[in-house]
Amino acid sequence: MHLGVFEVASPQVGGTLSWSHPWSDSVRHREVGHWIEVARLLEDAGFDFLFFADGYGYPSVGGDLPEAAARGGLNFSGIDPMLLIPALAHATSRLGFVVTSSTGIDHPVAMARRFATLDHLTGGRIGWNVVTGASQDTVAALFGHERMTAHDTRYEIAEEYVDLCLKLWEGCWEDEALVEDKEAGVFADRDRLHRVEHEGRHFRSSGYFTVVPSRQRTPVLFQAGTSARGREFAAAHAECVFLQGTTLPHAAGNVADIRARAAAHGRDPRSVKVLVGATVTVAATREEALARRAEFEALQTDEVAAVIYAGNTGIDLTALDPDRPLSQVLEPGADARIGQMGQSNIDRFRRPDGTMPLVREVLAELRGRGTRGFTVVGDPLEVADQLEEIVDVTDVDGFLLEAVFSPADHRLFCELVVPELRRRGRLPREQDRPAGSGTLRERLGAPSARLAPDHPGARHAAALRGTGPGTREPVTA
Ligand SMILES: Cc1cc2nc3c(=O)[nH]c(=O)nc-3n(C[C@H](O)[C@H](O)[C@H](O)COP(=O)(O)O)c2cc1C
Repeated sequence: MHLGVFEVASPQVGGTLSWSHPWSDSVRHREVGHWIEVARLLEDAGFDFLFFADGYGYPSVGGDLPEAAARGGLNFSGIDPMLLIPALAHATSRLGFVVTSSTGIDHPVAMARRFATLDHLTGGRIGWNVVTGASQDTVAALFGHERMTAHDTRYEIAEEYVDLCLKLWEGCWEDEALVEDKEAGVFADRDRLHRVEHEGRHFRSSGYFTVVPSRQRTPVLFQAGTSARGREFAAAHAECVFLQGTTLPHAAGNVADIRARAAAHGRDPRSVKVLVGATVTVAATREEALARRAEFEALQTDEVAAVIYAGNTGIDLTALDPDRPLSQVLEPGADARIGQMGQSNIDRFRRPDGTMPLVREVLAELRGRGTRGFTVVGDPLEVADQLEEIVDVTDVDGFLLEAVFSPADHRLFCELVVPELRRRGRLPREQDRPAGSGTLRERLGAPSARLAPDHPGARHAAALRGTGPGTREPVTA
């Protein structure tokens, strides 16, 4: 079982409200010391990585920031988690770090340079969660774009964006290009550096990538976004997919679909790790765990649920007829922008027969749930049982834990659940892990620090080997 923790460098995680509870410390999200404590805790317990969601947007209702979002700190405000990573890497030695960054904002060269730098500074422990971006209505306005880019076009842009990043990481420096021979005074072998030429629909680039190759070269590529287009993107590029599961059959269906699509792309379907979100409330006894969960539920309201949902989908549930199905937003004549911001959070309510619940039922389900995945409550044995069941029934490879009281919930999980999972053989002991070079990619089960040969990025490296030194052939797709 692979384990990561899902966090945000902002007051509130997961589309619910709990930062104001005395058990939550998330108002400390602006202190590097807070995150160092979290990272060390996770590393000592044997977690694989700490994951940061991120984005520039915020919820908007009727074209502006709702009062409830500002008052409640609901997906509103936060710092840039990428800038925390070097400090966290310095304070740890094994834990991986995954940072979410959207493909819609800047040029791929800038993104490639930042992640290559982070791969150096973490010693090969960085991952990039590639998203096309939440709250695209407010992001587009904030960045002065005339309009929000359409949902599927954003994925088309993302394909090209990632492809150019891959060319820069994999297709410029041969393995032997970096010489660093002080005596000879030779830094790099010019003949082993290859010009990247990219002439695409959305981006152009011509020249050399100036960051020397890092341990992984390409950061471990994560993806989140489970629309059909999102799953197709994941199947082509993702090494690790973050799925938001609602029911066991829904999650199982998405896992099977992602693996089948990966196989259709010529990739080993098992090499794509699928992790599902889980909100675990654990305590020494079941009664204490239920009481703890009740503290959280007491803070949740329809208003909280509606604001967060609007930020993810553009749908204001409070403005809809509560006694009609959610599918009213998709009927002919409804707002054409619906579905353009994100489809996962609409599709999650689609029943197997294609129908959707009433709006009041959607609100009831979102209350306390937000964008979170599975809810798991109980004593340590019950929690371990439920986690095992999710893995066995859905075929996911592990979990991204979404605490409600952070970092107190992480501490409880590390103290109470990790030893039980280890006892059941679901989590390896650190000394039993295969010896690798300590990169995140290897930690997630890959045989090498570098991209698998069946990943589309590997062809850029293969093209280099094909050209050999001295030819200076441009690497084009
Ligand atoms: C589980 C999950 C986590 C996500 N995390 C982020 C995030 O941290 N930042 C962000 O901008 N978007 C995030 N997104 C939204 C993605 O940007 C995604 O591109 C968007 O939902 C539109 O794609 P979709 O229709 O495939 O969901 C997330 C989506 C899902 C399903």
